Amino acid sequence: MKRVITYGTFDVLHYGHINLLKRAKSLGDYLIVALSTDEFNALKSKKSYYTFESRKKILESLRFVDLVIPENNWEQKVSDIKEYKIDIFVMGDDWKGKFDFLNKYCEVIYLPRTPNVSSTQTKDYLNNNVI
Ligand code: CTP
Repeated sequence: MKRVITYGTFDVLHYGHINLLKRAKSLGDYLIVALSTDEFNALKSKKSYYTFESRKKILESLRFVDLVIPENNWEQKVSDIKEYKIDIFVMGDDWKGKFDFLNKYCEVIYLPRTPNVSSTQTKDYLNNNVI
């Protein structure tokens, strides 16, 4: 069984996320999403609209996501790869090159981002258009 992992915040889930997760799952048999916690986001100066628990519930309801684990810090990737016996590490290509060092432990694949959609864009739009 091929095991795939990807990382992110996945706030205000959109079709760019769906494309990424669907393609990630199709590279193997079992997809793990390491989901940034609210505390880790604060550290990155990011604030999600939905809480970690809500974002987790949404991801767990997708048929191509098998397991959601917390992403607590930048350093956990190597231990996650070992603990969950990961074969493929996947990220969108906005991260291209950034995680090549994980090549020592598993295959590293960057998938093209879906153009013209992001959580930030959606939140900005809603902020400017709510009556
Ligand atoms: N992603 C994608 N296509 C998009 C948006 C995101 O493939 N249009 C991918 C990212 O490359 C990443 C994963 O989805 O691998 C999670 O990204 P995340 O940062 O949570 O989503 P964004 O919409 O980019 O969020 P933000 O606007 O807050 O940066």
